[in-house]
Amino acid sequence: MDYLKIKGIDSLQGSIKIAGAKNASLPLIAMTILAKNKLNIENLPDVVDIKTLLKLLTNLGAQCSFEEHHVSVDTKNIHETRATYDIVKTMRASILVLGPILARFGHCEVSLPGGCAIGQRPIDLHLKALEQMGAEIDIKAGYVETKAPNGLKGCEIIFDKITVTGTANIVMAAALAKGTTTIVNAAREPEVVQLCEILNNSGVKIKGIGTSVLKIKGTNGKLVDIKDFAIIPDRIEAGTYLCAAAITNSELTITDVEPKHLDAVIRKFEEMGFSFTLTKDTITIYPANEIKPVKIITQEYPAFPTDMQAQFMALATQANGTSIIEERLFENRFMHVSELQRMGADISLNGHIATVKGKTELSGTDVMATDLRASSALVLAGLIAKGETDIHRIYHLDRGYDSLEKKLQNAGAKVQRLKE
Ligand code: EPU
Repeated sequence: MDYLKIKGIDSLQGSIKIAGAKNASLPLIAMTILAKNKLNIENLPDVVDIKTLLKLLTNLGAQCSFEEHHVSVDTKNIHETRATYDIVKTMRASILVLGPILARFGHCEVSLPGGCAIGQRPIDLHLKALEQMGAEIDIKAGYVETKAPNGLKGCEIIFDKITVTGTANIVMAAALAKGTTTIVNAAREPEVVQLCEILNNSGVKIKGIGTSVLKIKGTNGKLVDIKDFAIIPDRIEAGTYLCAAAITNSELTITDVEPKHLDAVIRKFEEMGFSFTLTKDTITIYPANEIKPVKIITQEYPAFPTDMQAQFMALATQANGTSIIEERLFENRFMHVSELQRMGADISLNGHIATVKGKTELSGTDVMATDLRASSALVLAGLIAKGETDIHRIYHLDRGYDSLEKKLQNAGAKVQRLKE
């Protein structure tokens, strides 16, 4: 197994190029199941989750070739409709194939994903919405078995809670349904917006894109002609490298990014004393005179993202004063706290609220990655810790960060990937 060895440094410099968004790529790869043509997707991040989903599609009978941030996918010969446990257990986002397979073939079987490090993460909202669209659903031997022999029908769906992959799944199911589906309380994340825009440019009429009410006019079972496209930049990868600059109090430019997707994150950095120059596709962060404490509440887009919570917690250990971080989306997304504490952070937890007292000196030691974003918080802490930090179980990082150690090395970090 690989691990990362990080030596504490004084500062970073230069620029880091941001990859395509993992969480946009996953639904868009699943969307190819709705296409009648072979299509090319550019700017995919080279991360394990993308390879996992392509493997799932290949198991179903699709032809996929992935190289150099580019994939071509032909789903014409898909004949299997079962997403098996061996893949789903490694990546919950496999559930994204449910909507499109059910819509295209009239049945689909997906393994239930099981437990998750950041919380329960049920899929009840996906299933309830599909039921409303006319699907029959059974849970048998660990699998969700869905059937809609007469096709899915448009209806009004009101999500009890905003769900990102739930919205994507239902948008894809609705794309081939009979009639119009209205989704109320839809997710507005940029990744959902890109999915809607591409379908809208491919003959599925979607109104309300980027708002919380989507109206999707289905094609009544006809597959769609989808043009080649490129994935939007990864706002969470971008935010993570901005945190790397902030925690080392350095000037750093990130390129190939969409600054407006980071509004809420940039606002928090500004509250902490950092300043910025933005262009159309770059963000430069400048050091703070004094790093100030911050109050953060994670919420759905456009508010502050849960996927940046762990990284800001690492940064808050270097603020002069007490920061409060409230996690509202996932009940258990504080696995990084005990590892940061082992490095010397002063963090106390009360339910879903963390209180971080700064500034504390961190010391390098052995720590363990527990989920993707928790792992990146440990990398950030390692950048400024005294001595060496060894981060184990970095397969979590490899799921979502493209060339992490190379990008950091180019900006002056002392990071090495080694074998246990
Ligand atoms: N929820 C339900 N029932 C459902 C679906 C969701 O109760 O059927 C709850 C969840 O338990 C959670 C909340 O609703 O409390 C929001 O979950 P959501 O469904 O929005 O999360 P997701 O779609 O499973 C995506 C990202 C996550 C990101 C969340 C929140 C992908 C592939 N994953 O997950 O990304 O944290 O939205 O923004 O898009 C990551 O990249 O590290 C990551 C975990």
